[in-house]
Amino acid sequence: MMSDPVKLAIIYYSSTGTVDAMARHAATMAEKAGAEVRLRHVEELAPDDVVATQDEWVEHRKAVADEPTAVPDDVVWADAVLFGTPTRFGNVASQLKQFIDTLGPQWGEGKLADKTYAGFTAAKTMHGGHESTLLALYNTIHHFGGIVVPPGYTDDIKFEEGNPYGVSQVDQGDSDEPLTDTASEALTHLVNRLVTITGKLNS
Ligand SMILES: Cc1cc2nc3c(=O)[nH]c(=O)nc-3n(C[C@H](O)[C@H](O)[C@H](O)COP(=O)(O)O)c2cc1C
Repeated sequence: MMSDPVKLAIIYYSSTGTVDAMARHAATMAEKAGAEVRLRHVEELAPDDVVATQDEWVEHRKAVADEPTAVPDDVVWADAVLFGTPTRFGNVASQLKQFIDTLGPQWGEGKLADKTYAGFTAAKTMHGGHESTLLALYNTIHHFGGIVVPPGYTDDIKFEEGNPYGVSQVDQGDSDEPLTDTASEALTHLVNRLVTITGKLNS
C-alpha cells in the first residue's frame, strides 16, 4: 500500500536572500524526495528605514512580496518542519522568533508535539554563531515536544560542511550564487534524512 506523502513545512526568514536560496533548494529537494511542501517566509518586522539601509534587503522584500507568509496552521499541518534563519548576533532572527512566539495556542493544544524538526542558517563569518543559532532554535523544539532530526555526520558531505546540528553556510555576499555547492549538498542530505525519518514515523 502506498503511504501518504510526508508533509513538510519550510518556514524561514531572510533579509538579503542567502537563507531564502537555502530554503528554495530545500523545497525543491524535498519535493524530489516525494514530500508535499509548503515553503513560507515569515513577516518582516524591521522598520522600513532599517530595511532601506541595504539595497539587497529592499530587493529581497520585493522579490517575496507576492508569496504567502507563514501562519500557525502551516506548522499544525506539517509532519516535519524545517526552520531557516540568518544568524543574528549568534541567535535566531527576531522575525522567525516572533512567528514561533505566536504558536502558544497550538502549543497549548498539543499540536506542535510529535513532529520532526530541523534547522539551517547562514552567517557572515566562519565561526560567527552557526551552531549557537541552531541550538537556540532547538531549545524551542524541546518545549514543543518535537523530535529534532540533526544530520550529525551521517553523510560524507557533513565532514566537508562541518555542522552536525543542521546545515549552515557562510554568506557569499554579492555573489550571483548565494548557495554554495557544499551547503546545497548538505541541505539535500538533511532534507532526505528528515523526509525519510518522518515517513518511518508516519507509517
Ligand atoms: C543584525 C545582524 C546581526 C548579525 N549577526 C551575525 C553574527 O552573529 N555572526 C555572523 O557571522 N553574521 C552575522 N550577521 C550576518 C548574517 O547572519 C548573514 O549575512 C546572513 O547570511 C544573512 O542571511 P540572509 O541573506 O538570508 O538575510 C548579522 C547580520 C545582521 C544584520
